[in-house]
Amino acid sequence: MRKRVYIIVGSMRMNRIGRQIAEWVRDSIPASAAFETEIVDLNDWHLPLSDEPGIPAIDVYVQEHTRAWSRKIAAADGYVFVTPQYNWGYPASLKNALDHLFKEWTHKPAVIVSYGHRGGGKAAAQLRQVLEGLKMRPAAAMPAITVLHEMFTADGPLRDPATDLSSYAEAIAQAAEELTLLLANQQ
Ligand SMILES: Cc1cc2nc3c(=O)[nH]c(=O)nc-3n(C[C@H](O)[C@H](O)[C@H](O)COP(=O)(O)O)c2cc1C
Repeated sequence: MRKRVYIIVGSMRMNRIGRQIAEWVRDSIPASAAFETEIVDLNDWHLPLSDEPGIPAIDVYVQEHTRAWSRKIAAADGYVFVTPQYNWGYPASLKNALDHLFKEWTHKPAVIVSYGHRGGGKAAAQLRQVLEGLKMRPAAAMPAITVLHEMFTADGPLRDPATDLSSYAEAIAQAAEELTLLLANQQ
């Protein structure tokens, strides 16, 4: 059976470009990749900051939205985290989504794709450390996309990601190749 990989949209910001970046990442993964993808958008999940009494690594979940998130994440074999950089870090929305669960993430491979006005490398490095704390297996390849002012339309979204981000397609392809290998060594 083909492996399943979620492309997780880390930004929930109004007027975000995160969804466009995630769709571009999905479209840039070569057809030869040995996994199928699905975009998982945190805007569809409404995970509150704290309404679980227990510790995810130890206790059972009491909230139905946490249980639903658990079932969703458990159903994937690996993940691509698409994260912006906010003030040298990654967004609280993504940390919250990660911290809701524990065992659902463990041992699974992940690729971090960051973006920002300077590529988002600091956010990616922080996220990588957190994924290691969750006992995940982050890929060495970490594509970092610099979004330039001229790539945006006047009212916010990216004008033409397929063209403007094309120089990063090779980095995505290489990361997808590494993810295929990590998925093949699933524990
Ligand atoms: C609160 C905030 C902080 C930001 N800090 C950084 C930063 O530290 N480095 C950077 O390169 N870009 C930074 N940016 C620019 C974002 O990377 C850029 O706006 C990007 O579009 C944000 O992703 P989003 O639109 O998907 O939310 C910041 C943007 C916001 C909203």
